[in-house]
Amino acid sequence: MTKFIIDTDPGVDDAIALVLARQEAYPILGLSLVAGNVHLETAKTNVFRLAKFLGRKLPIYLGSPGPITRPLETAGEIHGQDGLGESNLPYEDYPVSGEAVDFLIRSAQEEEDLCIFALGPLTNLALALRKNPQAFEGSRLIIMGGAYQVKGNTSDLAEFNFYVDPEAADEVLRNFPGDLDLVPLDLTSQCIFSKREIAKIARANPAMGNFLESITRLYMEAYAREEGIEGCYINDPMTLLVYERPDLFSYERLAFRVSCQEESRGQLLRRKDQGAKTLRIYYKLKEKEILDYLVEAMSRKSDQGGNQ
Ligand code: BDR
Ligand code: CA
Repeated sequence: MTKFIIDTDPGVDDAIALVLARQEAYPILGLSLVAGNVHLETAKTNVFRLAKFLGRKLPIYLGSPGPITRPLETAGEIHGQDGLGESNLPYEDYPVSGEAVDFLIRSAQEEEDLCIFALGPLTNLALALRKNPQAFEGSRLIIMGGAYQVKGNTSDLAEFNFYVDPEAADEVLRNFPGDLDLVPLDLTSQCIFSKREIAKIARANPAMGNFLESITRLYMEAYAREEGIEGCYINDPMTLLVYERPDLFSYERLAFRVSCQEESRGQLLRRKDQGAKTLRIYYKLKEKEILDYLVEAMSRKSDQGGNQ
């Protein structure tokens, strides 16, 4: 049976991904936390908030407090200073289970079938690969990151996760020895999750509706301001959908690197050299089916309130 790790920097869309990773479908070994949207300490608090809301205490492994070589840049203007749209959700803490890099390596060694969802900067994954690349030979890694043929969301050329730690992103795309999938902004910007979907969810599952409404309010305002759209992209949850519903997506197999130059920092660039590591890059999705799936999944009462 496939086991899962979610490497995350929650973050509004990370939080929606964690809500979607329901217990019956995703045996999660743990969450490895990384600094990105928010500082590591806030990322941890946000997992406590989600644990309280979902009634599911996922083991927490603390990762890198910042990129491998650069100072951390966070995304408070999009996700709110608390990373969850200033929703101020209640929480209770519980003990951290350990450190992320060794947890990732150990899990990859021990599990026959491991799938890692990477929803933040790739710092933890790059550090784990530096330490023990062979450990990941049999693992699958599904990454949210990069802007290939669309404008970036952090610079004109770069998407946030790759912009924040381009060295890590480049190392992972070049050196990950297992199965690699990339969910770029090109794909996630084709699906707009809006108040209409939240209203449908709220009718079936009011607690989930309130939760989504409170975490996405500022996030949707940022999308209206920055992208001129009504609603938001839900970047990180798309990694789970690619895993669960491959029938709703199209991909190509290509090789990439990530620019570490200042003027093009974080840009996703095609590699054509022979023998370059290829990955599945997703470029097309079926929007209506995906929105229906999300509404259905988050309308289920068992996904909230201690019943998982
Ligand atoms: C990515 O950056 C973060 O702000 C989101 O959580 C997502 O992982 C989108 O560019
Ligand atoms: Ca994220």
